[in-house]
Amino acid sequence: KPVVLSGCQPSGQLTLGNYMGALKQWVSMQDDHECLYMLVDLHAITVRQDPKQLYDACLDGLALYLACGIDPQKSTLFVQSHVPEHAQLSWVLNCYAQMGELNRMTQFKDKSAKNENNINVGLYSYPVLQAADILIYQANKVPVGEDQKQHLELTRDIATRMNNLYGDVFTLPEPYIPEFGARIMSLQEPERKMSKSDNNPNNFIGLLEDPKKITKKIKRAVTDSDEHANIYFDPKEKAGVSNLLTLLSLSTGKSIDSLVPEYEDKMYGHLKGDVAEAVVSLITPIQEAYADLRNNRDYLNEVMRSGAEKASARAENTLKRVYEAVGFIPKP
Ligand code: AQP
Repeated sequence: KPVVLSGCQPSGQLTLGNYMGALKQWVSMQDDHECLYMLVDLHAITVRQDPKQLYDACLDGLALYLACGIDPQKSTLFVQSHVPEHAQLSWVLNCYAQMGELNRMTQFKDKSAKNENNINVGLYSYPVLQAADILIYQANKVPVGEDQKQHLELTRDIATRMNNLYGDVFTLPEPYIPEFGARIMSLQEPERKMSKSDNNPNNFIGLLEDPKKITKKIKRAVTDSDEHANIYFDPKEKAGVSNLLTLLSLSTGKSIDSLVPEYEDKMYGHLKGDVAEAVVSLITPIQEAYADLRNNRDYLNEVMRSGAEKASARAENTLKRVYEAVGFIPKP
């Protein structure tokens, strides 16, 4: 089976964007792929985190993965810092990644603009750690949102460089980007993507938020000043409305083409009401499952323990191969 690797950062509460762009795909890939899904806490500290919040967000994230349908019997579910090979491989890859390549990464540019007082080296080399996450498992497919495409290309470039030097050390991974839903936009600034660490909480929908609050946020979403309030799909001209249509489509399973005619004579308010209802129906069962799981710390511990063990067994093989390739002496 092809190997799949993906993860979310416990840098806040997972959002509807993370669900539509990542988790939903992950669940659907479990049967015909060998899946590894992690919480990337090492990545999360590239932006300053409150330790207690990071700790809780990681457990919340784990319970949410399970609540969304990730099955630990089918997939390997783990916390990144529990598998030290990620950081070990990352160091080696740092020495094969070029500053010029990293300088081009748009996520670094965006995040350093947002965190001017903490532009740390980890934030800069974030894509190299991500390359290590992927290459350490010899992953074939990496389901990601549109925003991560550039990092995947860098991963392939570093892997190709090392393969050219040392023979076939790494499998070249392919991004797996959903055709639709790969970029859920912010509710108040629909030209930007929805992000869990956005300073304005009205911009995102957290998967654990109170349904009443979710409804309020959707009803307040920015649309446009089109005086005829026409409802149609055009992410450039009608970013807000198109994002609402995307959310409705992904929450109900109906295509955009079949939804648009339903709103021919309707107002933006109607659309927002329907989106809110659909999103709440999607999220409610997830929240119910989450509540039980989050209270069962023994079970969560067992999932983390066995996940890390399975992940490490694979990761060790690759690290050994890489250390040999670059000329390190195996520990006698
Ligand atoms: N708005 C989005 N639409 C579709 N997919 C998205 N993803 C994130 N936001 C959207 C996808 O979710 C996965 C996990 O992302 P992440 O948590 O590792 O980091 P991120 O992409 O930086 O997500 P956030 O929410 O924007 O986090 P912060 O605010 O902490 O930086 C990835 O596959 C991503 O594509």
